[in-house]
Order: sequence, then structure tokens, then C-alpha cells
Amino acid sequence: MDDPTTPVVVETRPLYRLRGVERRYLKGEAEVAALRGVDMDITAGGFVCIEGPSGSGKSTLLQLLGALDTATAGTVEMDGQQLGSAGNDVLTGIRSKRIGFVFQQFNLIPTLSASENVALAMAPQHPSKAEREERAKELLTRVGLGHRLEHLPSSLSGGEQQRVAIARALANRPEVIVADEPTGNLDSESAGEVMALLIELQKRDGVTVIIATHDPEVGQHATRLLKLRDGLVVEDVDA
Ligand SMILES: Nc1ncnc2c1ncn2[C@@H]1O[C@H](COP(=O)(O)OP(=O)(O)OP(=O)(O)O)[C@@H](O)[C@H]1O
Ligand SMILES: [Mg+2]
Repeated sequence: MDDPTTPVVVETRPLYRLRGVERRYLKGEAEVAALRGVDMDITAGGFVCIEGPSGSGKSTLLQLLGALDTATAGTVEMDGQQLGSAGNDVLTGIRSKRIGFVFQQFNLIPTLSASENVALAMAPQHPSKAEREERAKELLTRVGLGHRLEHLPSSLSGGEQQRVAIARALANRPEVIVADEPTGNLDSESAGEVMALLIELQKRDGVTVIIATHDPEVGQHATRLLKLRDGLVVEDVDA
């Protein structure tokens, strides 16, 4: 039997195509070049790990891939669609239906239970309340939190909160998970659990996982390892 911790590439469909991508920010009078000309293709179904020192442009790149931000030069295409020239409705649709986000800070709504946090993410698809509750329960069970449905985030550990965030990211059956340092605030045991879940999603469900991290261990799970430095890709290896 193959090793369950090793991700596999399940597809080779081109998903993203980036050409000459720059992202510059104005900081007062000064201009910061967060990305300075990135070219890359990402195929569907992989586990892509983005490494690089603080300030190298990892989060900026993930925001572009997640249709949360647009490039100041160059093109970002998802399935042949230019995200830079797409209207807000199209971008909102892509974000809510095709991409699931996981952040370092979890970003759960503190006044809502685990189940309500997950169910709320389904709102754009307009399922009934019963369907939302059922699916939230199913997803939370899948991430090992079937016994914590009614808990508020404050009564959950960091690792549990991040697993709720993963369940929420899966609410609309996304094809891509964009994760920005998802284990950055976790102890090593919880980090291992979160990583195991992400690997399972890639391997078993064929979800494309794109993850930024400082953790060298995470890179060992990747099918592809990209290293950024000062807004440029300095290494790009298939693992
Ligand atoms: N909204 C913004 N306004 C101005 N500058 C920004 C903004 N967002 C990012 N930057 C700058 O762009 C550069 C890249 O930032 P980015 O957050 O992408 O790096 P990172 O690799 O994710 O770093 P970290 O590991 O600390 O999260 C940095 O110099 C940062 O200060
Ligand atoms: Mg970052």
C-alpha cells in the first residue's frame, strides 16, 4: 500500500497561468514591490508549497491566486479566465464557489458556534437551513470535531479552531484551498493534524492545495516547492 502521508498529483489540467505578475503597493510616498515579475503555471490537483522569508511576497501571491487582490502588472489566469479584468461579480463567484481560504489567525466569528461558522459560509449557494446544518455537521465530523458542533471558538483549542476553519473552507466544495501559514499559530501536534487534513484533501478528494509556510517540514509534503525571495521565484522544484 502506498504511504498515506505522501501526496500524489491526481490531474494535470492547467489551473493557473501567471505571466509577468507584479504587485506594487504605495506606502505613503514610497512604493513597495511585493512581486516583481512572476511567471508560473499551476496544474490542478497538486500540493504546492510556497516558502520564503518574511516579506518575500508569499501572502501577496496567495491573495492574487485567491482572487482577493489583482496584479498591478502582468496577468493572472484561472482556467483561462483573466482575473485582472474580471468584474466584481465574477471574482466574488470564484472566491465563494471555487476557492476555500485558511489563514494563520483562523478568522472565525467569535459569537457563532463551530457549526454556525461553517454554515454561514454556505450562504452564497442558498441551501436551506436544514441542508446547511447537515453539511456543517458532516464537515465538522470529517475534521474530527463532530463532538464540538455547538462550541464557540473561544472554547476550542487553536488546532480545533483551525480545523473549524478548514471545514468552513470546504463548505462550498472548492477545487482549490489557499492556505496562508495555516500552522503558524499552532503547537507541533496540532500543526501535524492540520497538515494531515490538508494532505488528505489533496490526495483523496483531488483538491488543489496551495500553501504558504515558514515551516520546512510542510515542504516535505509538497508535490511542488516554490521559493520566493524579494518578490521573485528563485526556486521551483517538483517534489
Ligand atoms: N497592503 C500593503 N500595503 C503596503 N505594503 C504591503 C502590503 N501588503 C504587503 N506589503 C509589502 O509587500 C511585501 C511582501 O509582503 P507579503 O505579506 O506578501 O510577504 P510574506 O512573504 O507573506 O511575509 P510573511 O512571511 O511575513 O507573512 C512586504 O514588503 C510588505 O511590507
Ligand atoms: Mg504572509
